[in-house]
Amino acid sequence: MGRLDGKVAIVTGGGSGFGAGISKAFADEGAKVLVCDINETGGEATVKHNQSSLAFHKMDVTKAADWESTVKTAIEKFGKADVLVNNAGTSYRNKPTVTVTEDEFQKTFDVNVKGVFLGCNAWVQQAIDKKEGGVIINIASVGATRPRPGLVWYNASKGAIWNATKGLAAEYGPHQIRVVSICPLVTGTGLFSHFTGMDDTPENREKFIFNVPMGRIGEVDDVTSACVFMASSDAKFITGVNLEVDGGRCI
Ligand SMILES: NC(=O)c1ccc[n+]([C@@H]2O[C@H](COP(=O)([O-])OP(=O)(O)OC[C@H]3O[C@@H](n4cnc5c(N)ncnc54)[C@H](O)[C@@H]3O)[C@@H](O)[C@H]2O)c1
Repeated sequence: MGRLDGKVAIVTGGGSGFGAGISKAFADEGAKVLVCDINETGGEATVKHNQSSLAFHKMDVTKAADWESTVKTAIEKFGKADVLVNNAGTSYRNKPTVTVTEDEFQKTFDVNVKGVFLGCNAWVQQAIDKKEGGVIINIASVGATRPRPGLVWYNASKGAIWNATKGLAAEYGPHQIRVVSICPLVTGTGLFSHFTGMDDTPENREKFIFNVPMGRIGEVDDVTSACVFMASSDAKFITGVNLEVDGGRCI
């Protein structure tokens, strides 16, 4: 028995890092997953993990039409779409904030905030109509509440998600739709160099552990196991929570 038997999830950014890990972990726990990414090569690689439970769908989270086809595809392929994981994200490279360009700012907010806005718009009504509840998991960041220099507008985009998670939970709770966010610590995914402004090397990873009580940076499975829990019925009365998965960094 898997903890997600019978569930169907849409996971954005499923071609790399956390999204690939979440997709695979959900499949291992019995879910069917539409692995969504703008990057076809990455998405197809994730699907190889379990081709009977994972299917790739190329889409761009910043495009409303892509979201419509995403929800439609999940329902056509797997019969429903009861979990939405808004994980796709981006950032400019860590640098003095007044040098962030308008294009970098726009892209960060388009992917990290507008992408979640469009995803919720496309997914929520069918969940309400189905009357079986559902779960939205947004991947925010420790930077949502504990911003650090050099990533101000990235952190602000995650602050918006932190806030929207609570607002959505309050609004859609009566439909038994739970909305939570996971707030990861810096982790060695494709975005490591953007967040730190450094190459992803063992020496550079060591530079980010001094203020983490548990003495290490994040690992992908720290986040995937929190997502499995949040998507499962074990979390059936948890909503509006922004869960830090950070070894105590935000204390
Ligand atoms: N890695 C960290 O240290 C860290 C910490 C906190 C939060 N996060 C958040 O975790 C999430 C996942 O990031 P990651 O660290 O796994 O990075 P990653 O770069 O490894 O993966 C991000 C994925 O999102 C996809 N993507 C980007 N723009 C897209 C778009 N417009 N449409 C569809 N897909 C798109 C990329 O192709 C990529 O596969 C992001 O929201 C990120 O902000 C990461």
